[in-house]
Amino acid sequence: MRVLRKKPTRKIAPVIAARLNRSFSLHMQADGSIAAALGHYTVNLGQFSAAAIERAGHLASGLPLASFAGKSALARQLHALVQRLARHGLLEYRLSSPREARDLVVIEPQVAEYWPQPAKLGNGDTIVLSRFAYLRRRGNEMVLESPRAGALFRICDPAIAATLAALSQPQKISKLRRHATSLNLDLLGLLLDSQMLIKLNAKDGDGLRVNEGDGNLVLWDFHDLVFHTRSTEGRHADPVGGAFTYAGAVPPLPAIRPRWPGEKIALRKLSTPEPISPVAKLLRERHSIRDFDDQHPVTLAELAQFLDTTARVLSEWKNGANFDGGPEVTYSARPYPSAGSAYELELYLAVSNCEGLARGFYHYDAGAHALVAIDASAQQLQALSTAAEFAMDAPGPPQVLITIAARFGRVSWKYSSIAYSLILKDVGTVIQTFYLAATDMGLGGCAIGTTNIDLFAKITGLEFHVESPVGQFALGRGKTPLAAS
Ligand SMILES: Cc1cc2nc3c(=O)[nH]c(=O)nc-3n(C[C@H](O)[C@H](O)[C@H](O)COP(=O)(O)O)c2cc1C
Repeated sequence: MRVLRKKPTRKIAPVIAARLNRSFSLHMQADGSIAAALGHYTVNLGQFSAAAIERAGHLASGLPLASFAGKSALARQLHALVQRLARHGLLEYRLSSPREARDLVVIEPQVAEYWPQPAKLGNGDTIVLSRFAYLRRRGNEMVLESPRAGALFRICDPAIAATLAALSQPQKISKLRRHATSLNLDLLGLLLDSQMLIKLNAKDGDGLRVNEGDGNLVLWDFHDLVFHTRSTEGRHADPVGGAFTYAGAVPPLPAIRPRWPGEKIALRKLSTPEPISPVAKLLRERHSIRDFDDQHPVTLAELAQFLDTTARVLSEWKNGANFDGGPEVTYSARPYPSAGSAYELELYLAVSNCEGLARGFYHYDAGAHALVAIDASAQQLQALSTAAEFAMDAPGPPQVLITIAARFGRVSWKYSSIAYSLILKDVGTVIQTFYLAATDMGLGGCAIGTTNIDLFAKITGLEFHVESPVGQFALGRGKTPLAAS
């Protein structure tokens, strides 16, 4: 009897097209210029030829990347326009089958530089999902995300989700091609480029935790890396800070907790309302200062004293790790407490106005009690200061902006599950130490709740999972309040 062979299904490569963010519309002006607009907010994109303006109209539904990949004048103009839109975070990229209008996948960039560039994959390659990739419901959509990825992928076709599930185990491309009806190499290449997938070498076994990335990445728990990238700026496109997103649906909680019904023991008659010690006085005087006196900035000598008081290494010691065969571990003692005595926090100073110290970016070497200059462009320094000014709603930049960065592995080498939360608690101890020392010295400061991990990575060249910001503090000499008339 003749065996009937299943005819291999011919897979057609999807079209990758750039599409304008749904909230924006393009406005073509009579003088040949194009602007993207959302209400009163507009982004000017430059001047273009009539042909480019006509083609740009297709950005509302999707302009295939291949249509402007050539070298013609029109292709170059469209490429420039699309790049400008991308840099402003105004584009998404749709993957669709040439036969159907519906989206298969929509890629939403999370970092400004993202550009869809499928990595090369061949039949002999073996791939597996990154342990940091996760599928979740967002509104009524299914999204594939990863803290390592520069983009998120909206999965619009359930068959693709099924193939992603199969990739929880390593799969050879040749085998996947035979079994997965809806997957194709371009999408896999895009997922590989975004580090949603990893390619395995023979020595990588099943691509488990120790086979993905360097030692610094191996130490990260999944939830901690998601927390780090989502609670800072730079690696996601969601609103950050006081957005009052659900204020219409949920009322605010009261400033003071409603009392428990139990017996009340009054303490007022046992303590004095006036501070009775220098520490109590300092605690009472401490407050945030956001407006600095730029005619009389903080001096280098004051900065040296401030860092000595708050952050200098006081002593160093060694101890065995407390497990059998563990290596000897070095420790230090500093003025503030630190979980596990890890002292993983590093201070980086963006100096805008300090008498005796040049404007620039510096690392505080806490062991040597010294500042070490790091090359940073004027634009990068400006971006740091402007973000701090904005976060504080301040009238000018901080004289010294201290970025508190963490060497994550110093804590996660020992602690599972709680590493990142310990680091944030350590940041709290440093911030209060800064506030008290600044108050004591007649200086002023303010904690800042947001920080851009991508900007810091660009300035320092340090990857965001190795050493990256977890807090900020603005320091300077506060303006003397005008006496009440
Ligand atoms: C973790 C933390 C984050 C903060 N972030 C900001 C910030 O981004 N912008 C700002 O203006 N103040 C910020 N502050 C300062 C608070 O607004 C301030 O401490 C609070 O309003 C109480 O006022 P006081 O510090 O003057 O007593 C922050 C404080 C803390 C502890």
